Amino acid sequence: MKAIIVTEQAAGRSGMKLTERPNPPAAINDVIVQIHASGFVPTEMEWPSTWTDRRDRDRTPSIPGHELAGVVTALGYGTTGLSVGQRVFGLADWYRDGTLAEYVAIEARNLAPLPGDIDFTVGASLPVSGLTAWQGLFRHGRVQAGQSVLAHGAAGAVGSMVTQLAREAGAYVIGTGRAADRQKVLEFGAHEFVDLDNDALEDIGGIDLVFDVIGGDIQKRSARLIRAGGTLVSIVGPAEARPADGLAIDFVVEADRAQLTEIVLRVRDGRLRTNIGNVSTLDDAVAALNPTKRRRGNTIIRVRP
Ligand SMILES: NC(=O)c1ccc[n+]([C@@H]2O[C@H](COP(=O)([O-])OP(=O)(O)OC[C@H]3O[C@@H](n4cnc5c(N)ncnc54)[C@H](OP(=O)(O)O)[C@@H]3O)[C@@H](O)[C@H]2O)c1
Repeated sequence: MKAIIVTEQAAGRSGMKLTERPNPPAAINDVIVQIHASGFVPTEMEWPSTWTDRRDRDRTPSIPGHELAGVVTALGYGTTGLSVGQRVFGLADWYRDGTLAEYVAIEARNLAPLPGDIDFTVGASLPVSGLTAWQGLFRHGRVQAGQSVLAHGAAGAVGSMVTQLAREAGAYVIGTGRAADRQKVLEFGAHEFVDLDNDALEDIGGIDLVFDVIGGDIQKRSARLIRAGGTLVSIVGPAEARPADGLAIDFVVEADRAQLTEIVLRVRDGRLRTNIGNVSTLDDAVAALNPTKRRRGNTIIRVRP
């Protein structure tokens, strides 16, 4: 099959190469998915799991990309719950070969059915950003209607989902980003926008939940805005700052079929919008994933036309 591989961490994203790889075999409880569309997180080259297996042994050449939408073509030993020919979407294991390829072997539990009226490109744009926002807001942040949420990077992949889901849950949402992102963030449903380069973050206060996708100084300053009993949720590693009288939580997103189903339901009925920028073919993926100018929205690789 055709696949994008990486072999050398120091080369970063520019080390991606389109090549031929053997088709993956299905393990116990796996399905094989013929990939129609694939999503990629720009920081994947920094993750240890891109380079090593769970015992920390080199696993290169590895295939990056962890979001997919496609069609099941085979079932592994013992696999239940999905069938050959079914349209699916989901989140691939961090430590296994990923989705920038024509086929992937993936545990069935990492996938959910993709409704027939949802395009594969849309399906591939949802798993990482949708599940991360869902789990950060509802499982870890326990957001409630009437609370205030500071959604950092609200024009980005995760932040745009955080903004929309928090708003739908009845929260008051303050989205942040660069000056040029103001309109986009307000269109995703933020009540207010804070331009991190020009506005004073310190002018806002009494936040119940900070959803941090940036880290560093922005995170430290944001932790001070949290009211007693509030929560800092970080997705960029262990929190460097704690709210004075609240919780700090960091987590890595997990596959969850029920949550994927909730997310795609919202896309179908118009409550949730995708944030897709560029759509490219697998042949052009290396260039598309190494953009020369600022990326706006998710880049999705359409593996099959
Ligand atoms: N723990 C997890 O499970 C998990 C899951 C998903 C993602 N992540 C991590 O979360 C981070 C965000 O992911 P993403 O896919 O949402 O990225 P993204 O699409 O690039 O979104 C990040 C947004 O934040 C903005 N931003 C970053 N730094 C900023 C700053 N200093 N001032 C103003 N705006 C700033 C970016 O603007 P620019 O494009 O202009 O920089 C962009 O709009 C990444 O580090 C990713 O690895 C973690």
